[in-house]
Amino acid sequence: MKILIDDEKKIFLLQTEHTSYGMQVGRTGKLLHLYWGKRIDRIRDLPYDEQLVLYPFEDEERKPENNQEYTPSGGYYFDESCLKITYADGCRDTKLFYEGYQLEKEKDSMSLRITLKEVLYPVYVHLVYTVYEGLDVIDRSAVIENLDTSPIQLENAKSASCYLPRGKKYRLSHMSGKWAGEHILERRMLTQSKVVLETRNGESGPDSCPWVALDENGSADEEKGRVWAASLHWSGNWRSIVELDKLDQVRITMGINEFDFGWELKSGEQFETPVCSIVYSENGFGESSRRFHRYQREWLIPQNKAKSIRKVMYNSWEVFGFDIDEGQQMKLAEIAADIGVELFVMDDGWFGERDNDKAGLGDWYPSKSKFPNGLKPLIDKVNQLGMEFGIWVEPEMVNPLSSLYRKHPEWVLHCPGKEITEKRNQYVLNFAREDVVAFVWDFLYKLLSENNIQYLKWDMNRHLCEVSWPEVPLAEQREIWTRYVTNLWGIFDKIQKTFPDVILENCSSGGCRTDFGMLSRSDLVNTSDNVDPLDNLKIFEGFTQVFLPKLSGRVVTVNRNEINMRSAPLSYRLDVCMMQTLVIGNNLFLCTQQELQLLREKITYYKEIREVVQNGELYRLISSYENPYMAVEYVKQDQTEAILFLLGQSMQFRQILPRIRLKGLKEDWLYQINEDKIISGSGLEEIGIDIALTGDMDSQVYRIIRMQNER
Ligand code: DGJ
Repeated sequence: MKILIDDEKKIFLLQTEHTSYGMQVGRTGKLLHLYWGKRIDRIRDLPYDEQLVLYPFEDEERKPENNQEYTPSGGYYFDESCLKITYADGCRDTKLFYEGYQLEKEKDSMSLRITLKEVLYPVYVHLVYTVYEGLDVIDRSAVIENLDTSPIQLENAKSASCYLPRGKKYRLSHMSGKWAGEHILERRMLTQSKVVLETRNGESGPDSCPWVALDENGSADEEKGRVWAASLHWSGNWRSIVELDKLDQVRITMGINEFDFGWELKSGEQFETPVCSIVYSENGFGESSRRFHRYQREWLIPQNKAKSIRKVMYNSWEVFGFDIDEGQQMKLAEIAADIGVELFVMDDGWFGERDNDKAGLGDWYPSKSKFPNGLKPLIDKVNQLGMEFGIWVEPEMVNPLSSLYRKHPEWVLHCPGKEITEKRNQYVLNFAREDVVAFVWDFLYKLLSENNIQYLKWDMNRHLCEVSWPEVPLAEQREIWTRYVTNLWGIFDKIQKTFPDVILENCSSGGCRTDFGMLSRSDLVNTSDNVDPLDNLKIFEGFTQVFLPKLSGRVVTVNRNEINMRSAPLSYRLDVCMMQTLVIGNNLFLCTQQELQLLREKITYYKEIREVVQNGELYRLISSYENPYMAVEYVKQDQTEAILFLLGQSMQFRQILPRIRLKGLKEDWLYQINEDKIISGSGLEEIGIDIALTGDMDSQVYRIIRMQNER
């Protein structure tokens, strides 16, 4: 990592391990983008002092300066902008000019802070760029500071704009999605137009996810081709605009959605946008993903637990729903422990009057009928069986049928006098309110400090409606969307700080709120409520484009589960989930001895391979989107071991498959495949291994281990 500055020419060059990013203060004092791509080492190689010639009749002075690093809305500029301000006198035009820079060096990171000033008002924008030791991600954000005596209104404040080399053809990759179908990968060529990806429901999903990637000519694949990608750290409404303009310039603009956004920035205050992480790869989508994964593993996710193993978990939801009680959970725990489960998580249904989804949310005390002696007897039993105990909560919600709602009807999102939209029979608490947040923290603190709980599953099961905040002045009411997110993050941060060993799961009806903002303060995600194994292959490929596979908790449950009613062999269902963090959700009371034995064997095997699966590097070898089967490889960091998952979807009779060529191993080391054949790293990479899959949902897992003294 390095940040080079040429003070004479006012050029800035950010360098990660393999990539570079360059800017310059242009001839009129605006900060202009110069370069984003493969690493270059000489700062004056950047295309500085260049002028785009547009129309011959334009005189020197009036020639436009394109590609401002942070383009405000104002002047002769009509494309996507980053910043829109209304000043106290009614002016709505902003022009930003370079003021200076500051460099900050920490142990493992370096930041460049470039300050721009509005031409007339004492309003400043500080653009922050951070690079990290050993990583290939650049983090960007903006801080808007009002040093005027009057407040200003922010109407749009994006995190960043990024430019790709002009005049080329690009393909856009993004996610589409829905409940139980999150993170579906989509690809299309760009034409002169804008593609707007966004959410407006208060969450970061599931319709899409705040990540985009662009590749040159649409020709990149997992191993080759130039890819530029960006991912936003925001857990509420966001917007990405990918624009190919009339001058053949592609621009990605990302940040909080300006839809219903507003922020009154008072005199002396600052507004910090969320971070946008950007990655460039010249080795296709695979390397782009691995660069994002490494960044999460080494920097973003809570570091005290980042590399620790995620335990094999049992979760009660899939088969028991709300129908749980002390005796039943104790018996279930006995079988779970017997098959090798290490963490027993009791899901929804344990509190208040929660016998179905109509009541109870908000009343966070153990149900008197189901747990008459509180949680302690069950937790003690689970601990005696050698397992840790985890519990489910949904703190942002309240049922109208709850004592919390009867006491505090004013705490829910509502427009006075209007009916409140119910969804799953619940209302949303206004998390922008400090009293709501204090209540939530109090109950969580009590729950976690009074009980031996090692795992907290935080769920969120509906979108935000009637997003109004009548109690605050009109000029501040639109801040509700933003304050909701930052207060939510605040509680996640407090849990991480106060209970650093508790594993915190981020769930929102599955993976409807998966983004770098939540992941920087969570230890696991419920990737989807869809537990169908075939559907999950596609979700896995989408999810892992940007998110670390280990963070994905995947549940094995009953056959012909209600989500897709598909019948699939238990071993196949297990193999799909073993590619990620394994969660068991079967009805263990109804499993046959054979099924229990299979669960036991697979769990034992998973424990042997999970260090590689959870902390290794991911190679998506064969895509389930384009083939009747999928192949996924994980390589241990020291390259001594690899795990290969082969997951058939639907094969033709005698369908001959190409040999699978592995990646990431040491060429001259020898490896043994499933304690059988020995082959060198280069043999595995160049010749590969012969595979065969038959019928529907056939699966195989290969363990490839380095041999020490063999030839
Ligand atoms: C939705 C989650 O995704 C499920 O895993 C489960 O926790 C239910 N909510 C409980 O209501």
